[in-house]
Formats: sequence, structure tokens, C-alpha cells
Amino acid sequence: MKYATKLVRYLALGVLLHRASATVGFTTYKEIDEGKDNSGEIAYSGLFSRSSTLFLYIQITPDGADHADIIDDFKTLARNFGSQGVSVIPRVRYGWPNNTIATEPEESILMNDVSTFATVFQDITGTINIPVIQAGFLGEWGEWHDGQYCQAQGMADTAEDLAIKANVVNTLLSTGHKVALRYPADHQALFNGSRAVTIHDDCIFDGGFNGSDGGTWPSDDRQTWIDYIIEVAGNNTFGGEGCDNAGDATFDWSDYTALCGSDGIAAYIDTLQIAYMNYDYPTDYKNLIEDSSEGNCVDAIQAALESWN
Ligand SMILES: *[C@@H]1O[C@H](CO)[C@@H](O)[C@H](O)[C@H]1NC(C)=O
Ligand SMILES: *[C@@H]1O[C@H](CO)[C@@H](O)[C@H](O)[C@H]1NC(C)=O
Ligand SMILES: *[C@@H]1O[C@H](CO)[C@@H](O)[C@H](O)[C@H]1NC(C)=O
Ligand SMILES: *[C@@H]1O[C@H](CO)[C@@H](O)[C@H](O)[C@H]1NC(C)=O
Repeated sequence: MKYATKLVRYLALGVLLHRASATVGFTTYKEIDEGKDNSGEIAYSGLFSRSSTLFLYIQITPDGADHADIIDDFKTLARNFGSQGVSVIPRVRYGWPNNTIATEPEESILMNDVSTFATVFQDITGTINIPVIQAGFLGEWGEWHDGQYCQAQGMADTAEDLAIKANVVNTLLSTGHKVALRYPADHQALFNGSRAVTIHDDCIFDGGFNGSDGGTWPSDDRQTWIDYIIEVAGNNTFGGEGCDNAGDATFDWSDYTALCGSDGIAAYIDTLQIAYMNYDYPTDYKNLIEDSSEGNCVDAIQAALESWN
């Protein structure tokens, strides 16, 4: 009896670990904010049936606070969801509890915050699986644009800003978790050709199959950057979120014939070797994914995502 119980536990753990170390697929958006009551967010509730990974925004204030409460909330969330076999892909960004977004504070506050959260992400190992950490911290929504240290991308940026970007990523890498940064041009400037750091894309399929994903890569040199992304990020926990409102926003996500067709999102996932996507954005995508009458298309998208590491 005892042995059987142990065996069942062992097998269950094996299944959990197998799932944790394997693929990600659809991710589910969640957000916790410093200065707010996050109790509803950090209590466990089941995810959408096709998803077992949270994409988690951790919003912190840019005023040099110690962030003790939001760190406690994150640890509680990690315990509650980790014990249910759910993984988390976190990104820290700056903002205020009144819903005003902020960009990064000056360097000493910034780097102190990055170190604080690196320690948190390191300490949480074993409590919840973290397939990848999105670098975050810099720019609006932690997207590495429009902040004081991310006015430009790649070699167009200053040596001083590139050093800060490298410092953010290297500090997060010291946790032992994989780290993704936002722009392939920054990746090339800082980690040229290396798969030790991967990429995330906040604007997948903005321009459809042949688009530039809202300026993720320069449209005039598209193929070079596609090749670069596949080289460093393809099949390397590369992923992010769809988008319909940036630079090259031409794709109509409500056109399910196109979205599910041979130049649709599943083919795009396979071309770029994408491992995960938020299932619930843009809204037309969410409606497709949740529509049981579109099961064949959604199965194909899910299978495409889960075929890549
Ligand atoms: C939100 O709070 C911040 C910090 O106190 C303040 O700078 C900002 O103006 C506020 N925004 C709004 C819309 O009230
Ligand atoms: C990256 O490496 C490639 C191939 O080694 C080289 O041609 C290119 O100039 C490098 N780019 C940068 C920005 O270092
Ligand atoms: C993408 O570009 C290729 C090559 O130019 C072309 O064959 C294909 O029809 C294009 N697909 C879409 C959806 O525009
Ligand atoms: C993707 O990565 C996994 C593990 O890292 C590897 O086993 C697999 O062969 C890779 N797939 C391709 C097509 O390279």
C-alpha cells in the first residue's frame, strides 16, 4: 500500500517534471501590481484547458522601494500555481498603482531592482518551473522601447546604454534560468550568434506571414533578421504575443480562413520555430482559440507550438 502510494507519487512527479521540461504552448496572461491588492490573482484558479503556463507581468514602482509586498505576492503565486503543475514566464515592468505605466528609473535604482528580482527568481527554483524569464525592466511595459536607456536598438544605441542592457540580461542569467530579450538587433549587438540568450516577440503576426512583426526587425532587411532569429531563438523557448496595432498592422485576425490557412499562424510558428504564445490576445485570436467549432485549426496551432522547445 505504502509502496503503491509512493509509486503513484513518483509517477505523478515524473509526469509533472516531464511536462515542465518539455514544451510550453499556449500561455495565459496574468498581472500583479505593486501597491494593489493582488489576492484574487495569486490564489490558484484553473487555467484555460489548452494552457498550463502563465505569462506573468510583475509591475513595480520606479521609486527605489524595497518591493517587499509584491515579492511576497509573487512567492505566494509561485507556490499556489507551481504545486498545481503550472509554469510561469515572468517579466518585471515599471508602473504606478493608478495604472500609469512608467519606464526605468536611473541606473542605480534600476540595477538594484534587477538584482533583487534575480534573487527572487533564483530562490523560487523548485517551487515553480520557469521556462524563460523575459528581460523586461527597460522601456514601456518592459518592452525595451521609449525608456531612458533604450532609445535605440542594437548598434544604433550608445555604448553606455548597451552596457546597461547587457548588465540587466547578465544579472538575470545569473539565476540559472533562460533569459529572453526583446529585439534581435539588441541580441546581435550584445550576444551575437549565441543561443545562451533567446528572444521574445511582443508583436507576432502584426503584418501577417511576410510582415516585420510591428518593427521587431527592420522591414528592409527582413530575411536577414528572420535568419538571425531562427539561428539564436528558434526552438529555444522563443515566443510572446500576437499583435494587431503596431507599425505594419495589416493582418486581419478576424479572417479565420487566412489565420488557419497555409500562410497562417501555424505555418508562421513552424517557420520561426516559436514555442509559446499568449492565447488571449488579440481578441479575435482569443475568440478563435476558445471556439470549439474551430477545434481543427486550434489543434494545429497548439501542435505547432508544442513541436518546438
Ligand atoms: C499616477 O501616479 C504617479 C505617481 O504618483 C503620478 O506621477 C501620475 O501622474 C499618476 N497618474 C494619474 C493618471 O493620476
Ligand atoms: C556578428 O557576427 C557575424 C558573424 O560572425 C559578423 O559578420 C557580424 O559583423 C557580427 N555583428 C556584430 C554586431 O557584432
Ligand atoms: C509571402 O511571401 C512569399 C514569397 O514572396 C509569397 O509566395 C507568399 O504568397 C506571401 N504570403 C502572404 C500571405 O503574403
Ligand atoms: C529542438 O530542440 C530539441 C531539444 O532542445 C531537440 O531535441 C530537437 O531536435 C530540436 N528540433 C529541431 C528540428 O532541431
